[in-house]
Amino acid sequence: ASTLGAAAAQSGRYFGTAIAAGRLSNSTYTTIAAREFNMVTAENEMKPDATQPNRGQFNFSAGDQIYNWATQRGMRVRGHTLAWHAQQPGWMQSLSGSSLRQAMIDHINGVMAHYRGKLHSWDVVNEAFNEDGSRRQSNLQGTGNDWIEVAFRTARAADSSTKLCYNDYNIENWTYGKTQGVYNMIRDFKSRGVPIDCVGLQTHFTGGSSLPGNFQTTLSSFAALGVDVVLTEVDVTNASTTQYAGLTQACLNVPRCIGITVWGVRDSDSWRASENPLLFDGNGNKKSAYTSVLNAL
Ligand code: XIL
Repeated sequence: ASTLGAAAAQSGRYFGTAIAAGRLSNSTYTTIAAREFNMVTAENEMKPDATQPNRGQFNFSAGDQIYNWATQRGMRVRGHTLAWHAQQPGWMQSLSGSSLRQAMIDHINGVMAHYRGKLHSWDVVNEAFNEDGSRRQSNLQGTGNDWIEVAFRTARAADSSTKLCYNDYNIENWTYGKTQGVYNMIRDFKSRGVPIDCVGLQTHFTGGSSLPGNFQTTLSSFAALGVDVVLTEVDVTNASTTQYAGLTQACLNVPRCIGITVWGVRDSDSWRASENPLLFDGNGNKKSAYTSVLNAL
């Protein structure tokens, strides 16, 4: 196969990218994105501050722009994200306790109703753990330790057709505290019947020339709990070919690792642009990391 999406499809997987609505008017960007990828995540446009800027007033214009652009080109879409400590609208940031809990539930219901039946998966909860594996002390955590479980139960009731994911960063190294914290939560959810279908490893690699310790063991261990595993926001300092090839191979080696998404198209599109972490350079040329990924797929 000659594109990332087609190469990933050979093994039944997808290869995706983050898309920013503001860049859809750039033809270099859209040409590469439409050619190479078969899954799309809105980089910011489906986050709480974008979708519910005022309480009770939902706005899906930018999210729909990305959804329509992608699906008109035969690509599928992942939803990102419903409950997160960051990128909350101002009104939500100022809530706490039972009113914030209700606002979270209302937000999940409102956004998921709009996209009901349309999305491949949703990152229901994003980044809820500290590095040591304890819960992040966010305003959401302040509503009670069961907030994550409530978010997932609400999401399942709102749209039973989409996969429900927990998504986080720094959960790639199997021996790391945060990885174990997330693993234990998912094990607990599965044992108690809390609905969860997938875990998203953001896979923002910083520095280093090899993969974080036991990366493939992390993927297979999560998968053994009975969830799909997805790499959701891949970018790598200086686009190390070793790390890009390694993370791709690790996913291919784990049957329930069903897809890989890179967090942007060209280096110049990246939130980490100064690190040149993506597969295309600022001019839209394929980098050596692109070839290493394509060859590994
Ligand atoms: C980032 C976007 O790329 C930026 O444009 C935005 O300013 C901040 O958020 N973890 C996530 C993503 O789950 O939503 C973040 O995206 C990167 C870290």
